[in-house]
Amino acid sequence: MESAPGIKAVSLADKKIILGVSGGIAAYKAAELCRLLIKAGADVRVVMTAAAQQFVTPLTFQALSGKPVLTSLWDAASGDGMEHIHLSRDADLLLVAPASADFLAKLAHGRADDLLSTLCLARACTLAVAPAMNREMWAAAPTRRNLEQLQLDGVSVLGPAAGEQACGETGLGRMLEPGEILAALPGVLNAGPLAGKRVLITAGPTFEPIDPVRGLTNLSSGKMGYAVARAAAEAGAEVCLVSGPTCLDTPAGVRRIGVQSAADMRRAVLAELPSDVFIAVAAVADYRVNAAAPQKIKKSTDGMTLHLVANPDILAEVAALPDAPFCVGFAAETERLAEHAEAKRRKKRLPLLVGNLAQDTLGEDTAELVLFDDRGQHRLPRADKLTQARHLIRHLVNQLN
Ligand code: C5P
Repeated sequence: MESAPGIKAVSLADKKIILGVSGGIAAYKAAELCRLLIKAGADVRVVMTAAAQQFVTPLTFQALSGKPVLTSLWDAASGDGMEHIHLSRDADLLLVAPASADFLAKLAHGRADDLLSTLCLARACTLAVAPAMNREMWAAAPTRRNLEQLQLDGVSVLGPAAGEQACGETGLGRMLEPGEILAALPGVLNAGPLAGKRVLITAGPTFEPIDPVRGLTNLSSGKMGYAVARAAAEAGAEVCLVSGPTCLDTPAGVRRIGVQSAADMRRAVLAELPSDVFIAVAAVADYRVNAAAPQKIKKSTDGMTLHLVANPDILAEVAALPDAPFCVGFAAETERLAEHAEAKRRKKRLPLLVGNLAQDTLGEDTAELVLFDDRGQHRLPRADKLTQARHLIRHLVNQLN
């Protein structure tokens, strides 16, 4: 099983998982997911809808799971005919992957006209869905409404991802890759080293308005903050990501609150407290325009002066609270990294600060990091940001313990 380096891999060995497969071309990826779940030690029972069987045969899943695949509510061989009750009573997780637009609609309305939808309604276990559909179907108003309802009903929604689709179009709607779904399961099952912990994360740039069409921002892509959110969710935390404007997908199992300015970000962060951990990855603008113009400023041949005032330091404010969470800061420097980073850590009184050289990291997919804590410096040689985020979470877990 893919796991954070050094983080105790959350075993799926004792987990009973029902893998529901609904009708979509991504059903072929569910075969790989089934294999990965088995490899991770899970006890997997596959349930297929009639439409799913048009894409992949039950025999494929039977061969992979080593058990007969369940396809009908009306199977005379299933004893008392209460399979939909027994199965879900026994399971730790009901995972529907792929979950088609039609299946999500059924779930949102509590329909129960086949074995899989009946199981979902009769379940006494966690339900997670990995949607897969064409981008227009994903964006359609009814799907949006259904998704909102499912989230209100406590269903974990994993993905979807953006990319090329089977129909030839490109956009949001692809099912997450099987490995990504697997990595999100400890979070869904609330079983990692951060299980039961609330982790609040800021990410991305802020946008400080000058007038209704212009503003001050910076080059932060949000990639590091989103990777940290994903790694924290994988470790089982309940993750809230307060994000400035980015074009990144929200990681599986993470609740995202979109904000624009530093003031918005501060408000959202304070509203999400208390939290066990606060990780401030955002590149918050240090200054904002004193009074943004209510109407578009007209061009003139004269120069222009903007009066800037300092923004509140969100991290310093949270770290100074009497019941402060465990606070982690980031420092992007262009020179004398150790000196500046350690000075910031002491000034903001942080147990842990992550330093990096801004010119090496901004917008990149990889980063070289140095962790600063009371015991000294810990260098993380260059690696992709998700790997670095997992290292950071491992370090944080050790410090918390
Ligand atoms: O900008 P600076 O280098 O001081 O940022 C260090 C840390 O403080 C980062 O973790 C950043 O997210 C946080 N910060 C903040 N609010 C600010 C400025 C920085 O939370 N206004």
